[in-house]
Amino acid sequence: MIIMIPIAKPLIAQEEIDGVVGVMRSGMIAEGPRVKEFEEAFSKYIGVDHAIAVNSGTAALHIALQARGIGKGDEVITTPFSFIATANSILYTGAKPVFADIEPDTFNIDPEDIKGKITHRTRAILPVDLYGHPAEMKAIMDMAEDYRMAVIEDACQAHGALYKGRKCGSFDMGCFSFYPTKNMTSGEGGMITCSDGKLAEKARMIRSHGSKVRYYHEMLGYNMRITDIGAAIGLAQLNKVDSFNNKRIENAAYLSEQLKGIPGIVTPAVRQDCRHVFHQYTVRVTGDFPLSRDALAQELTKAGIGNSVFYPVPIHRQQIYQELGYNSYHPKSEQAAKEVISLPVHPSIIKEDIDEIAKTIKEISKMGV
Ligand SMILES: Cc1ncc(COP(=O)(O)O)c(C=O)c1O
Repeated sequence: MIIMIPIAKPLIAQEEIDGVVGVMRSGMIAEGPRVKEFEEAFSKYIGVDHAIAVNSGTAALHIALQARGIGKGDEVITTPFSFIATANSILYTGAKPVFADIEPDTFNIDPEDIKGKITHRTRAILPVDLYGHPAEMKAIMDMAEDYRMAVIEDACQAHGALYKGRKCGSFDMGCFSFYPTKNMTSGEGGMITCSDGKLAEKARMIRSHGSKVRYYHEMLGYNMRITDIGAAIGLAQLNKVDSFNNKRIENAAYLSEQLKGIPGIVTPAVRQDCRHVFHQYTVRVTGDFPLSRDALAQELTKAGIGNSVFYPVPIHRQQIYQELGYNSYHPKSEQAAKEVISLPVHPSIIKEDIDEIAKTIKEISKMGV
């Protein structure tokens, strides 16, 4: 089967190539001046005082939690409907992930459900801006203030997304991923954003074996550094991320228009005062569609249209969490896991591709009838 319209495609141009070549010629190929430049540019972009570049989004989450002093005996409330790294980062620190269910329209953590999960052990909330749609940050920040909790925002899918005019990742601590399928990439890579100088300093130390001064180690840290090669790619991508996002948004609007009226296909919602950057364009396939979600996925693949299910199994149902004894029930997350499918809207997609995607889904929708 040949996929003609892929679900994701990193856009690498001459700027990225020149940036990498420049680093290679400089001889400084590990962490160096380009990392610093990338951090400064990214902090300005998000609107925070500090950004700390690391080697993955997973590392960003792990470091942010550890910088906050979260560890054994603590609980962190998060969503079960995300990539597993969201919850695993909590496990790495020795703390316990506690799952709160999602809101069905945005697939993001439900502030009301968070409220019911707070105990005397809760130290932080870890919301995810899933698919590029901001989480309900006002309600989350208010709750965090009332209960003196930290907010570690998993903005790994939300570079440039806005909540009431503020960038995702600018509220307390933000964590980003630059994996190649993301809205911008550095190869592998991640970033922590915050405006608290002490936290930023701690995060920098954890990134590099707990040391401020080379070979003097004040705390437990890791090697989670990014290279100047990655930073050079990231810098070139950062200059283009707004135009990439605009194209995603335009493609998403056009695809929603084309899918309108197909029974059983629920197109993505965008809440008022939010800029959804469509890292994924995700529809629900409900019982009104004549085929199951999985059958639709198969038919799309047969027709050469890339598609993917993010995520088929909620985190608390994953084997590792089952083995840890998780037996909670989060009906909205479980329903979403059965119904969602993501379709291509990345910046390389042209109008004709979207017409083809919509036409194919319309044809498939008539198959079972
Ligand atoms: C929501 C979410 N959290 C965390 C991560 C982890 O990022 P990375 O793959 O860069 O470690 C990702 C990306 O894959 C993600 O989508």
